[in-house]
Amino acid sequence: MHGCALFLTKRVWLLRSLNFSLYSISSSSSLLLLSTARSHFLPFLHSLPPISSMAPGIEAPQRSSNGGSVRPDSHFSDDGVSRKSKVTIVGSGNWGSVAAKLIASNAARLSSFHDEVRMWVFEETLPTGEKLTDVINLNNENVKYLPGIKLGKNVIADPDLENAVKDANMLVFVTPHQFVEGICKRLVGKIRKEVEAISLIKGMEMKKEGPCMISSLISQELGINCCVLMGANIANEIAVEKFSEATVGYRENMREIAEKWVQLFSTPYFVVSPVQDVEGVEMCGTLKNVVALAAGFVDGLEMGNNTKAAIMRIGLREMRMISKLLFSSVKDSTFFESCGVADLITTCLGGRNRKVAAAFAKHGGKRSFDELEAEMLQGQKLQGVSTAKEMYEVLSHRGWLELFPLFASVHEICIGHLSPSAIVEYSERRPNFSVINGQAQ
Ligand SMILES: NC(=O)c1ccc[n+]([C@@H]2O[C@H](COP(=O)([O-])OP(=O)(O)OC[C@H]3O[C@@H](n4cnc5c(N)ncnc54)[C@H](O)[C@@H]3O)[C@@H](O)[C@H]2O)c1
Repeated sequence: MHGCALFLTKRVWLLRSLNFSLYSISSSSSLLLLSTARSHFLPFLHSLPPISSMAPGIEAPQRSSNGGSVRPDSHFSDDGVSRKSKVTIVGSGNWGSVAAKLIASNAARLSSFHDEVRMWVFEETLPTGEKLTDVINLNNENVKYLPGIKLGKNVIADPDLENAVKDANMLVFVTPHQFVEGICKRLVGKIRKEVEAISLIKGMEMKKEGPCMISSLISQELGINCCVLMGANIANEIAVEKFSEATVGYRENMREIAEKWVQLFSTPYFVVSPVQDVEGVEMCGTLKNVVALAAGFVDGLEMGNNTKAAIMRIGLREMRMISKLLFSSVKDSTFFESCGVADLITTCLGGRNRKVAAAFAKHGGKRSFDELEAEMLQGQKLQGVSTAKEMYEVLSHRGWLELFPLFASVHEICIGHLSPSAIVEYSERRPNFSVINGQAQ
């Protein structure tokens, strides 16, 4: 056995989140071994009492639903043949492929889902001359976006979008955000009427009226309900089954469908919790990429850990404030879930936005993000730069630029109006909160 062992005599207290919610775990034996090894660590986690009974306002993870019996589900129509849910994944990049792996393992195991999981692939020709879709179906592996990982034999790659979605009643959207609107327009009138959707996409679309979150865009374009799944989820780590958590955001009265999504994604190494706060969860997932660019500038300029921690703290404060200003329903507690502070930490330590921003700062801002993205990410897309631009437009349109010095600086650095070192030049631009009457502080 590897990992650390803790010897406890009566009760174990686990500090779960940064708002210091304490979960008590009764230990009937006098000895409890905790191990980071999956087989030892997870039974312990699964033995946690419901969070709701321990910490008011926070909802319990739905771990027990994994493998449990199937409940009647009013959100899914009975087509007269079967009540099984059929899942299609719209997208097949790095995270899309990992999502396929998670979903395929549960679809094969749980009787409430059809075994077959379709994955729509934006077709590409590989350097070998082969089609990406053919190679995925032959090898059961996305050799371009997730090499070395088997997706599950029940994953069928399909380059035909309409064909991929036509039988599905659960759609998982996981493409880079700039492609979503075009995809939705192609899907109008092509999907089943009782479809439920979930978005794993980080980013937002700018409309004349203001920012439009991707889940709202999907709902508006297709007339369907859309939950979101966000979290501290660097795809390559989940692909090799390293333990992590995620948050499903759902709307009022949609708890039942949220549980269905939790069931579809949860594995022993991927623990998913539902939270009734779609906008809060989605804003966290979107805005942390802007903070990660700031963290990357700090790394590229070798400013050290204290500076990086300060940037993360300021970034989290701006994330919370803008989220609450734009959506009054956003809950503070959401920022302490996996989608909030945990995702911010992992993205600022290891994500692609941080990595490319560090290179940008090292080159003194002389090489563009487009150039670095093409060179460093092999077809993967950066989200932070476009999100920073979109957020800047929102802030400037509403006259809030002064309130958000970190968000504003990140965009101005990205477009070359400020040098990367300006990321820490805040002292003369302290936010004047009186502008918004102390709201959302
Ligand atoms: N990779 C991660 O670690 C991770 C983790 C959590 C969330 N996300 C989010 O998931 C979403 C998808 O990211 P990803 O990592 O799966 O993708 P990716 O960046 O790895 O790959 C890009 C994808 O876009 C596709 N594509 C290229 N041009 C297209 C077009 N014109 N139309 C449609 N598709 C096109 C490519 O085929 C490829 O599948 C993003 O919003 C990202 O922020 C990613």
